[in-house]
Amino acid sequence: MIHDDVVEEVRARADIVDIVGESVELKRSGKDWKGKCPFHEDRTPSFYVVPDKGFYNCFGCGESGDVFAFVMKRLGMDFVEAVKHVGARSGVEVVEIRSDEAGREDPNRPLYEANAFAAEFFRGALDDPEGGRGARDYLAGRGIDEETRERFGLGFAPDEWRGLREAAARHGIGDEVLLESGLLTTSEKMAEPYDRFRNRVVFPIESMAGRVVAFGGRVLGPAGKGVPKYLNSPETPVYHKGEILYALGWNRHAIRKAGVALVVEGYMDVVALGAGGIDHAVATLGTALTPEQARLLKRYTPRVILLFDSDEAGVRATFRGADVLLRAGIHPSVATLPPGEDPDSIVRQEGRKGLEQYLDGAVDVIERKLQLLDERGFFATLDRKRIAIDKLLPTLRATADPALRDMYVARVSERTGVRRATLEEEIRREGGGRGAGGRTSSGSPDRPPSRRPETHGGGRRHRPTPALGAERQLLLVLLQTREWIDRALERIGPGEFQNEVYRAIFEALVDEPELETPPAHLSEEAVRTMETLLGDREELEHTERVFEESMAALHDRNLRAREVELREALSRTDDPEQEREIVVELQRLRKDRPGRWNVVRRDLPSGSE
Ligand code: UTP
Ligand code: MN
Repeated sequence: MIHDDVVEEVRARADIVDIVGESVELKRSGKDWKGKCPFHEDRTPSFYVVPDKGFYNCFGCGESGDVFAFVMKRLGMDFVEAVKHVGARSGVEVVEIRSDEAGREDPNRPLYEANAFAAEFFRGALDDPEGGRGARDYLAGRGIDEETRERFGLGFAPDEWRGLREAAARHGIGDEVLLESGLLTTSEKMAEPYDRFRNRVVFPIESMAGRVVAFGGRVLGPAGKGVPKYLNSPETPVYHKGEILYALGWNRHAIRKAGVALVVEGYMDVVALGAGGIDHAVATLGTALTPEQARLLKRYTPRVILLFDSDEAGVRATFRGADVLLRAGIHPSVATLPPGEDPDSIVRQEGRKGLEQYLDGAVDVIERKLQLLDERGFFATLDRKRIAIDKLLPTLRATADPALRDMYVARVSERTGVRRATLEEEIRREGGGRGAGGRTSSGSPDRPPSRRPETHGGGRRHRPTPALGAERQLLLVLLQTREWIDRALERIGPGEFQNEVYRAIFEALVDEPELETPPAHLSEEAVRTMETLLGDREELEHTERVFEESMAALHDRNLRAREVELREALSRTDDPEQEREIVVELQRLRKDRPGRWNVVRRDLPSGSE
């Protein structure tokens, strides 16, 4: 059986137009949708779907019912199967329970409850006549009215160290769950845990099932030293930032209706667009667009307009994101905003109409690439043209939709003068490495950057070994705190990195610590990974600790590997001289890793994806 709550949640979250639309071609008809009835021979469309009421009805044959009835009838499923089927399409995890377990709880329930409590607490604080005034004024100053505030559930985290903690305690929500949900945090300097979000406007982040799973918080006013502009919940058992898009749950109907989703960089952009009457936007959560996010979007729309900043980083994020979307079978276009502007600033200054002009001016991603290459003189000489083609090939390869790919190939052929057949051949030479010394782009097959280059955050399914996570963590720290590259070098060399992609990035940083873009000699995959790491805007907390732990994890892993090697050698040799040498080194190794090992290892895995 399935718990009633779950059935109701699936029903509430299901988009009946979506589900029916998978097997019946539907056209909009006022607020409803109509099509030819799948249950009888229907010449005139007499089959209606009424999303507001969540049912369908055929005036021809009289068939009617809710979303589950439709699936049961149409696909011949029983009720439990139908709920699972619809759940899978609605972002609700449907777990069947044996009837004797019916009362058993979802293990994540305390997390959901803590998040729901916090969302309410923050909302209340924003409404507080006195305490919330500053935050309300701040939002009003950014064009966010009360209605918009409510629609997005915005709140305010008061400027107190333990406001939330104390309020939660009064409701029986203890430190443990608040820490696990990231609402509380700890510091070496303080004995007691304290609220992560303080003096910030808070944006609740909901899962597709409509539950609050995380928060983003923006400081009132300018960011400062030690005060990042945005602070986000960490990854938790209910929050994997690479698998969620901000506002998709709220805006999916508008997205379906518009036939296109706007993908923007920030919460503030989505909210400002909402205030301006544009409801088909979603935001990534401080990371590069992931394949999971693209797949999620694909359920609601075949088209996306990318609306990122127009600086270098934004352009890179745009093309990187476009390739991810193309792989998911989505057709991406690119809207280009004036330098220094973002969707929020445009709607504020120029209103909805103003922004729509930029949307109307959006061009297909391949067209945008060609434009930029042209502007940068890549079609001027034959040599440069060769490079241009290399830059276009990954996008052609990424394009999963065969018809779109055909059009892209045609367009690139036309623009560059390279025959289509030649391009097709180059496309087939999948992922040709471009590094010096014939390095190819493939790492060893089961390591994270090789398998899921654009993904991070969603490591639930293929969790890398702790030390691999540590390699990545360390690079993130070094990319954000370049002064520490030397400090790292004092203790480890590139050889300490097991993953060749991470090693190459580390080497590149050692060569040129100020590096802002991946150097050309890196493999395609290393470039991709480095861009993903550079694109991670999340401020790391406890940087010092993360640094030390990563270093220790690498160091320790290598010591252990050496130990295994030595033990094997010891069992193979029967030369007493060699035996003695090995034993001496083994003893030295053991001295090198005293108790620290136990202290360090324990906290690493969960914090390091
Ligand atoms: P931006 O710096 O472009 O901020 O970061 P914004 O959205 O325009 O914000 P406003 O208009 O100044 O309020 C874009 C996104 O990058 C992530 C956030 O998700 C943000 O929305 N980010 C940025 C962080 O996670 N942390 C930061 O410190 C900065
Ligand atoms: Mn902004």
